[in-house]
Amino acid sequence: MAQKWFETVAIAQRRAEKRLPRSVYGALVAGSEKGLSSKDNLASFDELGFAPHVAGLSNDRNLATTVMGQSLSMPVIISPTGVQAVHPDGEVAMARAAAARGVAMGLSSFASRSIEEVCSASEQVFFQLYWSGDRDRLLQRLDRAKAAGAKGIILTLDWSFSNGRDWGSPWIPEKIDAKAVIKLAPEVLARPAWFWSFAKTGHLPNLTTPNMALPGEPAPTFFGAYYEWMHSTLPSWSDVEWLRSQWSGPFMVKGVSRVDDAKRVVDLGATALSVSNHGGNNLDGTPAPLRSLPAVVDAVGDQIEVVLDGGVRRGSDVVKALALGANAVMIGRASLWGLAAAGQAGVENVLDILRGGIDSALMGLGKSDVKELDRTDVLAPADFFRRLG
Ligand SMILES: Cc1cc2nc3c(=O)[nH]c(=O)nc-3n(C[C@H](O)[C@H](O)[C@H](O)COP(=O)(O)O)c2cc1C
Repeated sequence: MAQKWFETVAIAQRRAEKRLPRSVYGALVAGSEKGLSSKDNLASFDELGFAPHVAGLSNDRNLATTVMGQSLSMPVIISPTGVQAVHPDGEVAMARAAAARGVAMGLSSFASRSIEEVCSASEQVFFQLYWSGDRDRLLQRLDRAKAAGAKGIILTLDWSFSNGRDWGSPWIPEKIDAKAVIKLAPEVLARPAWFWSFAKTGHLPNLTTPNMALPGEPAPTFFGAYYEWMHSTLPSWSDVEWLRSQWSGPFMVKGVSRVDDAKRVVDLGATALSVSNHGGNNLDGTPAPLRSLPAVVDAVGDQIEVVLDGGVRRGSDVVKALALGANAVMIGRASLWGLAAAGQAGVENVLDILRGGIDSALMGLGKSDVKELDRTDVLAPADFFRRLG
């Protein structure tokens, strides 16, 4: 694979589009319904401006911070995403890149590689759970994550099983059998470099979810796991509180938009919450998290760590989120574009782009530490913010 450095995440995305079969690329673009939320996630960052200084700037700038008990070299975490079999090394490549650049990684329960393998590649892994199965199954997954060495849990609660996208959903096979090979052959053969990257390993893309299996069970297929999740009883707040009580370490609730929900997440004793609309893949029309962040921070920011995810593509985006009160951001697609474009090196490249952009924005704003950022550093149009709940 040509390992050419790219200078922005937009370029990584274009490389990924060129390299991946059409359906695989479409699975990463994702989004739901009309794409209102996924578009708003990007637009919200564009609407915020900066208020830079020109002299008296700081020569030394500290980007390091701590979230969920983990020291991070910069305020960025890899968000859990489920489709990393787009690269032969998948989640293991992602974890190696995160470790090489000193950031933590969330591992999806729909990952294609086991938590044991991923925790061997990085010491800073948070395991992400959906509310799937009954309490016994959830507990067994927690036990497995603990035994593997996961440093925290991310419980993702925002999912309403919407289906249908105006631009069409890619066809994803249950498994790579003869029917799938025939159907996907034209688009795969149009991407020989991608095909060869798998062919030389002797393995086909892994469409199973090993972390959804309990000891002794075979790894379910992606759709098998999705079926279990879809048919599970939806959790009450006391269920969530119970799950939190079963994990003694750091615990994040991901997918919060509303102030009243944020307060409940504080009450149940979580360490962190992520203001997120699932990258615009969930209930379409949910505003960009950047718009709802300040109201959540004002309500609970002194009681819990607040992370934002959705739409982060640049270091300056990270700085905007921090200026509005986030402790850190999580990146989904940006990390996937890097992985798809160039594996571990591509993810490292994305993380380096973000680091350079954060540093440059800090310099322009006259700050010496990411913790010094505040709302006076950004300019927002009058109708920018949303308070939900
Ligand atoms: C292809 C794809 C798969 C995802 N899978 C998961 C998942 O398994 N678990 C989860 O909590 N979030 C998942 N997410 C949401 C991300 O963790 C994150 O919230 C979102 O991608 C942030 O938006 P961004 O992609 O604009 O950075 C997924 C997102 C995408 C794009």
